[in-house]
Amino acid sequence: MKKIKIGKSDILAPNVAVGCMRIANMNNLTEYISFCIENGLNFFDHADIYSNGECETQFAKAFKQTGFKREDIILQSKCGIVPGVMYDFSKKHILNAVDGILKRLDTDYIDILALHRPDALVEPEEVAEAFDILQSSGKVKNFGVSNHKPYQIELLKKYIKQDLVVNQMQFSLSFSNMIANGLEVNMLTDCAIDRDGSVLDYCRLNDITLQAWSPFQYGFFEGIFIGNNEKFPELNKTLNAFSEKYNTTPTAIATAWILRHPAKIQMIAGTTNINRMREIINGSKITLERDEWYKLYLDSGHILP
Ligand SMILES: NC(=O)c1ccc[n+]([C@@H]2O[C@H](COP(=O)([O-])OP(=O)(O)OC[C@H]3O[C@@H](n4cnc5c(N)ncnc54)[C@H](OP(=O)(O)O)[C@@H]3O)[C@@H](O)[C@H]2O)c1
Repeated sequence: MKKIKIGKSDILAPNVAVGCMRIANMNNLTEYISFCIENGLNFFDHADIYSNGECETQFAKAFKQTGFKREDIILQSKCGIVPGVMYDFSKKHILNAVDGILKRLDTDYIDILALHRPDALVEPEEVAEAFDILQSSGKVKNFGVSNHKPYQIELLKKYIKQDLVVNQMQFSLSFSNMIANGLEVNMLTDCAIDRDGSVLDYCRLNDITLQAWSPFQYGFFEGIFIGNNEKFPELNKTLNAFSEKYNTTPTAIATAWILRHPAKIQMIAGTTNINRMREIINGSKITLERDEWYKLYLDSGHILP
């Protein structure tokens, strides 16, 4: 796997991370984790809320069976959401959440802790205190955020000492407003509306690794855009054509599209299927031509003004 440096950290990680949001009920989890690690996919993305903590618990149990060591893998988890109730970045919540994560993952430390979604009532001084405690106790090595806009990151940065090394955002061929917004600038089009505060440029400027979640979903978990999807006929035609050219599959081409961006985005794959992960690994080895990248972008429904 191609490796990328994660933010300003010392972590060298594969450009595809394994998303663990859907793993709770897998019956071949040990085989799946072994397959991933053996193929260079040793970065696992968790969150305390995934299946109510069950994803982390099941992961730890299965990982133990693989025979790999803790140092062989990079573990990231997220906290700050109390599902359906509130977001909570208080010091107390963050510290408790990390203790829960460590217990469920059966480890002494996580490599990266990310704040899952911005908390409207955030008190950055409290976040800073929590991060200091977590860093000095060795429980968390690096910190990051998820679904954060530039100014929300700036607010945190005013108080916290540690670098924020990742920002997780939804990003895919069917969810690429981060790109469209930068291309349509001040036009009277929908995509010109600033939804993310130029987060793509901001993260590049500040050496924060963008992590692309839901790389194959459209909307907010509405389904997969690949295949017989009547919402994306042109896109699928082109995905199929490029699959033929590169002797691969549409899933691989959609992966290559994300990874072709020079921001060195880390894609978080949520598949639970070893064969699909194989396609994704194949896609990570393909470098699309510039015109091919733009053709896919256009066929996903965007314009070039
Ligand atoms: N920070 C955040 O707010 C946030 C939000 C959501 C997710 N995440 C992270 O991002 C990771 C990925 O998210 P995701 O799971 O939504 O991503 P995804 O990879 O786009 O979706 C995975 C799901 O789509 C199915 N799938 C993928 N390709 C398919 C195809 N060609 N045909 C049919 N089904 C296909 C998979 O089924 P199979 O299992 O059968 O392959 C699986 O159910 C998560 O695991 C989590 O770590 C973060």
